[in-house]
Amino acid sequence: MKNITQPFPSKDGRKKPVHPTIIDRHGRTFYYLRMAVNEQCNLRCIYCMPAEGVNFLQKGQLLTTHEIKRLLNVTSELGVSKIRFTGGEPLLRKDIPLLVKYAKNLTYVDYVHLTTNGILIHRYLDELENAGLSGINISLDTLKRDRFQFITRRIGIEQVIENIHLAIKSQIPSVKINVVVMREFNHDELLDFAQLTMDYNITVRFIELMPFDAHQIWKTGKFYRAEHIVNDLKAQANQLQEVAGSSTEHYVFKMKNAKGKIAVIPAYSRNLCGTCNRIRITADGKLLNCLYSQEEANLRDLMRKGSSDGGIKALIKKTFLNKHMDGWDAQQYNDPHRESMTQIGG
Ligand code: GTP
Ligand code: 5AD
Ligand code: SF4
Repeated sequence: MKNITQPFPSKDGRKKPVHPTIIDRHGRTFYYLRMAVNEQCNLRCIYCMPAEGVNFLQKGQLLTTHEIKRLLNVTSELGVSKIRFTGGEPLLRKDIPLLVKYAKNLTYVDYVHLTTNGILIHRYLDELENAGLSGINISLDTLKRDRFQFITRRIGIEQVIENIHLAIKSQIPSVKINVVVMREFNHDELLDFAQLTMDYNITVRFIELMPFDAHQIWKTGKFYRAEHIVNDLKAQANQLQEVAGSSTEHYVFKMKNAKGKIAVIPAYSRNLCGTCNRIRITADGKLLNCLYSQEEANLRDLMRKGSSDGGIKALIKKTFLNKHMDGWDAQQYNDPHRESMTQIGG
């Protein structure tokens, strides 16, 4: 099995991780929770949503802060030791530093991360640092101004780049850049992104495009396979050395004398499913046992019907026990009713 630099068991010994109890029939354990805290976004990336946005949930359908905290608590008692807040755009929630702090203080949680489009980092950085954020993954698909506007349908590249530099200078231990690679749109920028790792201790991650937008840009020939990305990098970058990375980082390299790492995430090819450790909860409280699964367990309604923590735990464990072998199997049982990645939480 591939070597994963992942947070279980706890590296620093600060806390004693509880034995993970969310398991499946294929020998995997699940200790990494991706908690979506909203669906709204201040960008309109062409591979994510249409220009007019999607049919966003009404407030009453979304989990309340109290319900989010309850699910963080319950999952941590089941052995979750790493939590990532996603969206939509999580920094559109003013209370995000408080949520980070709450998660970080849970007895068995060692790591709390955030995935953001980077536009608003400057507003929250101090608070996030003080809350003990362990890592921040920032999405940026191009280093060129006009392309940024084309891909995101908004302006703001200067702010995102400035915020990446602020994050690098901050006390937040891990800073990563997520680049969704698309043929013709940005596949010629691999080396420009990779070069950033020479000067900065960051991980630049190239992600395969996934078919999760209602308009299916994926079908228009923009898909660029992970192996192509790896081959391009090997051809263009200086003496790549293989190193270890996180569970989604299937191919991980370091350029000679580089401070940071380069990784490739085969999000569509799915040869990373064997090391899956992830639990997803959408902003309206649906539990997904796979990114490609359309089957879901409704934790929100269970809580609103007055279920005990024990009842919630039982549903989570049952949902994961029934997890399919990989994202290909999971997708067969499809009733595609989501129009955007923003409704899944990445
Ligand atoms: P680290 O904890 O830093 O490794 O981050 P991460 O990769 O788990 O989280 P992030 O939110 O940065 O996700 C980056 C991309 O990885 C997502 O957009 C997806 O494309 C891909 N990804 C994350 N989890 C899964 C998964 O379970 N399956 C697949 N196929 N792709 C995933
Ligand atoms: N394919 C691949 N990655 C996607 N993301 C959003 N939609 C897609 C898609 N269709 C990425 C974002 C961000 C991460 C959370 O998910 O760019 O980096
Ligand atoms: Fe917003 Fe992320 Fe979707 Fe882009 S990919 S529109 S940043 S939620």
